[in-house]
Amino acid sequence: MRKNRLTIVVAAIILFLIGSFFVEKKETAKEKLPTVGVLQFVSHPALDQIYKGIQAGLKDEGYEEGKNMKLVFQNGQADQSKLATMSQQLVQEKKSDVLIGIATPAAQALANTTSEIPIVLGAITDPVSAGLVDSNEKPGRNITGVSDKSPVDAQFDLIAQLVPKSKKVGILYASSEENSKYQVEEAKKIAEEKGMTVKTFAVPSSNEIAQTVQVMTSEVELIYIPTDNTIANAMQTVVSEADKAKVPIFPSVDTMVEQGGVATVGINQFDLGVQTGKMAAAILSGKSQAATTPIYTFKTGDIIINQKQADKLGITLPDNIRSKAKIIE
Ligand code: TRP
Repeated sequence: MRKNRLTIVVAAIILFLIGSFFVEKKETAKEKLPTVGVLQFVSHPALDQIYKGIQAGLKDEGYEEGKNMKLVFQNGQADQSKLATMSQQLVQEKKSDVLIGIATPAAQALANTTSEIPIVLGAITDPVSAGLVDSNEKPGRNITGVSDKSPVDAQFDLIAQLVPKSKKVGILYASSEENSKYQVEEAKKIAEEKGMTVKTFAVPSSNEIAQTVQVMTSEVELIYIPTDNTIANAMQTVVSEADKAKVPIFPSVDTMVEQGGVATVGINQFDLGVQTGKMAAAILSGKSQAATTPIYTFKTGDIIINQKQADKLGITLPDNIRSKAKIIE
């Protein structure tokens, strides 16, 4: 009898221990969903589209927010010290398993914070000159992702067809943005090769944009804008000043054409995000590793035209362009 009771007690204790072990395991698994930490540099329509695309890309690959993945989003509001603090939070407090940086300054802040957690670049103009990877083919560190390098050559071909008589180009960008400097150099070279003269106008901050555009409109025949976050964020100001002088704006992305640019050959911003989200998913599931995954680049862009703006400025669209273009009303 005694012995039997002892066996029962011991068995009960063992069962209890086994049971609690499984319960505990299940609970920790529930607490720690794989976490994706996203840091966006600032809000402007293009970057907002990219973030939406990222969510769609993760979902396409089976990661659903709240179900089998935790998504933590932070917006640095173009403030360097906010970017640094938020990077710390995403790494230390939120324990992100994969990080995503949207726009160059955000990606750089993340890269300064961790050299271990994988970082996926969300639409970075030139990851090499931004000091983020060794090369686009073999990134080599904890970083890979998507580049949104503009098809600058195709953009200037389009400009030459739409405004064949305009030869004086002014390029508007912010001096604080590494990513723009790269594209400005390239645009200058290409425009000059096509027989245009180029003058660059770098603004120290968004406060000087209105005045700078006023100066530009008295000196140039068209304004070209690279994928510059500061200018994208102040596109309305740029458009209203340029409109007063009837000087056409040729930006580098669809969203800036929608906001009052005339035309571009650009990569769809949402698609950039989808690709970024898919690459993050592949790293999260262990299918790929940052160091050995090449930077993804888009080979072509779409022709986007703002019909209203073209009409307003007396620019007629040749039929061969109209038939290929996406026309925004
Ligand atoms: N390429 C920019 C960077 O590296 C970010 C960016 C993506 C962007 N799409 C844009 C900037 C559209 C301006 C407009 O920072």
